[in-house]
Amino acid sequence: MTTTLISGANKGLGYETARRLIEAGHTVWMGARDPARGQQAADALGGRFVHLDVTSDASVAGAAQTIADAGGLDVLINNAGISGPHSQAAELTADDALAVYGTNVVSVVRMIGAFVPLLRASSNPTIVNVTSGMGSFAFVHDPERIESKFNSPLYTSSKAAVTMLTVQYAKAFPEIRINAADPGFTATDFNGNTGTQTVKEGTDAIVELATRGGVGPTGTFIDRSGVAPF
Ligand SMILES: NC(=O)c1ccc[n+]([C@@H]2O[C@H](COP(=O)([O-])OP(=O)(O)OC[C@H]3O[C@@H](n4cnc5c(N)ncnc54)[C@H](OP(=O)(O)O)[C@@H]3O)[C@@H](O)[C@H]2O)c1
Repeated sequence: MTTTLISGANKGLGYETARRLIEAGHTVWMGARDPARGQQAADALGGRFVHLDVTSDASVAGAAQTIADAGGLDVLINNAGISGPHSQAAELTADDALAVYGTNVVSVVRMIGAFVPLLRASSNPTIVNVTSGMGSFAFVHDPERIESKFNSPLYTSSKAAVTMLTVQYAKAFPEIRINAADPGFTATDFNGNTGTQTVKEGTDAIVELATRGGVGPTGTFIDRSGVAPF
């Protein structure tokens, strides 16, 4: 039996990932910062709710203790993320940057630090970092790609950091499969439901990485078509 934790699982891609992994037989801890919405989401899918605000040391440590006490963890999916302000570049502030990096980047470090001890006790330890093609140098320069049409300095650079954190942690922890998934432009609240993919399509790469059973390459960046360029 594989036990999986998903951050930001109360809606959007995290919720659909939980639905698909429960269907695939995983025991899924659905992390959410809002207890009422998190419990409701877990009840709807047959998951287990755990309170998890990824920006809080105390909340992340509490979730790690809860999951350790219940038997441990095999797969960690760092999915929670924010877009940050949709301001013009000239209007962005340092506080905006701290907020976006705090949730999208610093929280990945916090989560990995808290959960690596549990993952090391697993026979199929896996981390999936939900990144974005918006953080791919290749995609944002390719006029054929949707990622080249947006200007969003903080969000894009935060996701470039997530992808590189994936590579660096994969080198640091060779005993864990650590890979990054780009969902692709998917209709969720994140983009006012303007994304062109369904949530099922948007979770293909995440589910693929989460169901490899602790084998396969590490330190890679994939989308639903396969290995993606960084
Ligand atoms: N949708 C896309 O087109 C797309 C494309 C590429 C990458 N992504 C990435 O995919 C991930 C999921 O995005 P989505 O489209 O599903 O967005 P979403 O519908 O807005 O969901 C984001 C989730 O993250 C949670 N979250 C935000 N801050 C949190 C915090 N401090 N602690 C715990 N949870 C927190 C939200 O919780 P609340 O409900 O409490 O706010 C929500 O559950 C993000 O990392 C995003 O960058 C999305």
